[in-house]
Amino acid sequence: MFELEFCKKFNIVSYQLEKRFYSKKNEVALYSFCDAKNNLKKWVVKHFSSPRRCRKEAKVLKILSSSGLAVPGIIYSTNHCIIMEYIQGETLLAWLEKSEQTAAPVAGTTGLLTALASWLQDAYQALHRAYGHSMILGDVNLRNFILSECIYGLDFEECRAGSPEEDLGRLCAFVLTYNPGFTLWKYRFVAAIKNVIAAELNLSWQRVFTEMLKELEQMSKRRNEQNMQAALRGNEHGFRLISP
Ligand SMILES: Nc1ncnc2c1ncn2[C@@H]1O[C@H](COP(=O)(O)OP(=O)(O)O)[C@@H](O)[C@H]1O
Ligand SMILES: [Mg+2]
Repeated sequence: MFELEFCKKFNIVSYQLEKRFYSKKNEVALYSFCDAKNNLKKWVVKHFSSPRRCRKEAKVLKILSSSGLAVPGIIYSTNHCIIMEYIQGETLLAWLEKSEQTAAPVAGTTGLLTALASWLQDAYQALHRAYGHSMILGDVNLRNFILSECIYGLDFEECRAGSPEEDLGRLCAFVLTYNPGFTLWKYRFVAAIKNVIAAELNLSWQRVFTEMLKELEQMSKRRNEQNMQAALRGNEHGFRLISP
C-alpha cells in the first residue's frame, strides 16, 4: 500500500487506517504510522484521481507554504498521492452548520470571515507572484478550510487562472445550497461575506453576484432543477438582501 521508499525514509514498521474523509473525487484518509522507535505519527493520505491533479496540488501547497500561509505541510508525495500533516479541527462547513443550528447571530461571524479574507488575500498574492498572473483556487467550498488555532486551507488540485470574483461567487452559491438550502440565516451569512470578504479584497459585488448566479444555474442542471428553481423563487426576500 505505501511505497518502500516512504517506509524506509520514516522507518515505518506498521500503520493503521484511522478514518476516511468525505471526498467525491479522491480517496482521503487519516492514518497512524508507527516507526521503529515506536513513535506514532498521524498523517493524512490523499490518493488523487489523476497524476496531473496530484502534481498541481503538490506545487500549490509548496508555493503557499513557502509564502507563510497556513496549509498542511507535505510529508511525502508521489505521482498519485500526497501524504501530509493532519490539521486537527473542524471544517468551516461543520462550523457553519453548528452556528446555524444554534441560531448564532450572523454578526458574530465577522471575526472568522475577516480571518478567511486575510487567508484568501495572502493566497491570491502568493499565487500571482509565483505564476505571474491572477490565479484562483477553483474549488472554494467550506469543506476545504479547517478551523484550528487559525484557518488552514486545503485542496488545491483545481487551482487555475481566473479572477477572485469567480471563487467568491462559487463560495456564496455553495453556502446558499448547503442543506437546509436557502434559509434566511444563509442569506444573512452571504450578506456578511459581501460586507467582509468582498470588501476586504476590494472585489466587485456585481461580478461576484453574477458568478454566484452562474454557479447556481449550473448546480440546478446537475442536481434537481425543480427544487432549486422553487427555492430561488420562494426566497426573493433573501435575494434582495444580497443583490448588488
Ligand atoms: N491535511 C488535512 N488535515 C485534516 N483534514 C484533512 C486534511 N486534508 C483533507 N482533510 C479532510 O478530507 C476532506 C477531503 O480532502 P480534500 O483535500 O478536500 O479532497 P477532495 O479533493 O476530495 O475534496 C476535507 O474536506 C477534510 O475534511
Ligand atoms: Mg475538498
